Amino acid sequence: MIIALDGPAASGKGTLARRLAAHYGLNHLDTGLTYRAVAAALLAQGLPLGDEEIAISVAKHLDFTSLDRSLLSSHEVGEAASRIAVLSKLREELVSLQREFGKKGNGAVLDGRDIGTVVCPDATAKLYVTASPEARAKRRTDELLGKGIEADYNDILSDLHRRDLRDSTREDSPLKPAEDAHLLDTTEMDIDSAFKAAVEIIERARKL
Ligand code: CDP
Repeated sequence: MIIALDGPAASGKGTLARRLAAHYGLNHLDTGLTYRAVAAALLAQGLPLGDEEIAISVAKHLDFTSLDRSLLSSHEVGEAASRIAVLSKLREELVSLQREFGKKGNGAVLDGRDIGTVVCPDATAKLYVTASPEARAKRRTDELLGKGIEADYNDILSDLHRRDLRDSTREDSPLKPAEDAHLLDTTEMDIDSAFKAAVEIIERARKL
């Protein structure tokens, strides 16, 4: 069983993915962390973000079992991740590791930008999770402040707009709903309502 969750930054798909994985007894991979981990390693070593060969060699050494969002959550790393995510050969490398992850155990919940369209086109259920830019900026600001990280709502809102634009207009694997994805707009939903709505969608898809 594969559940694919895609959507823009801070749409709530990460929290939803964790809840769904626990509910169905599936593994969970936040594919954004794979891009973030490569970006963070490049930044830490002072390496360029535009060099595909260097980025691929970093990706090959990634340990998918030790990706920790709390270490990779900074705004700067998210921005750098979106910049390296336009590199096609790097994407190929990460996508093949992500597909392998999905084959383990009973299956997995994967969340990202291109899960339903590219990584797992045959997923059991595909959800495209969105929320208004303002709701997403508020959630991201609260999330960072909650972790004691400095965050300014207006800066975050303009960053989200820029990142959404870059993610949805890039040539390779742009952010967009798969044709057979179910839209879930969480603007007015708390996490419990979003979880319930997602389970209903998944149960319907499983019966097909
Ligand atoms: O948590 P947030 O939504 O801010 O971002 P993320 O999921 O951690 O992803 C960071 C960046 O990685 C995104 O802006 C995308 O450019 C890229 N990404 C991607 O291209 N494909 C994925 N499957 C996941 C992330």
